Amino acid sequence: MSTATLENPPAAAPEEIQSFTVTLIIRRFDPDVDAEPRWEDFDVEMFPTDRILDALHKIKWEQDGTLTFRRSCAHGICGSDAMRINGRNRLACKTLIKDLDISKPIYVEAIKGLPLEKDLVVDMDPFFASFREVQPFLMPGKPAEKNKERVQSVAERARFDDTTKCILCAACTSSCPVFWTDGQYFGPAAIVNAHRFIFDSRDDASQVRLDILNDQEGVWRCRTTFNCTEACPRGIQVTQAIAEVKQAMISGKVS
Ligand code: SF4
Ligand code: F3S
Ligand code: FES
Repeated sequence: MSTATLENPPAAAPEEIQSFTVTLIIRRFDPDVDAEPRWEDFDVEMFPTDRILDALHKIKWEQDGTLTFRRSCAHGICGSDAMRINGRNRLACKTLIKDLDISKPIYVEAIKGLPLEKDLVVDMDPFFASFREVQPFLMPGKPAEKNKERVQSVAERARFDDTTKCILCAACTSSCPVFWTDGQYFGPAAIVNAHRFIFDSRDDASQVRLDILNDQEGVWRCRTTFNCTEACPRGIQVTQAIAEVKQAMISGKVS
């Protein structure tokens, strides 16, 4: 047992972390009752290191069980809880209360550009339809040799590493003004997932995907707004990936 002395003073007690009241203003919509979405305020007692997802759970469990939102992993992996928090697309499970301005209410609403179903839940079908259209899977020209891997150098693997990190949360696509107004544009997430295979040295269908993205709903609709890059919770250089796909179309090379 250690004894405190003048030379060896007792460790200071850790400072107690105080909880405080946070106001969340959530955009609600129940298609069975509401003609239009409406805003509703909730006061919740939270700690600075709690996340917006914790606040939503607290509201649902203690105040209003009808509050509807998606979440699964709660750790930034599944991509299911993208929402607009104070006007910016983020994952609720990765947004700490202390990183927001808690002197004001926190506004929470569904991501934009996709049909609203209920409260914070949107219909993701159009988003996944665009994703499927770019054929986001490996298409090698010939079968692998028996008992052999398809070998790839470190540099070849690094070429598309950034775009492998996508979790299909739709934060990018639903922050893109072209996607909001157009309704036809593939959107940045689909292009990111096309990029992931276009630049994979083991794949032989790059031209197929480039042809798909070269049509009028494809990459050329991007106006280099950068909202997608700012919104991506995985830090993917989305606008850069789109530029590389454009460049591959112009040059006819995927190096
Ligand atoms: Fe989400 Fe980023 Fe993938 Fe877009 S690119 S879907 S923001 S992880
Ligand atoms: Fe939209 Fe991103 Fe292009 S926000 S316009 S896809 S750079
Ligand atoms: Fe899975 Fe947030 S709940 S990413």
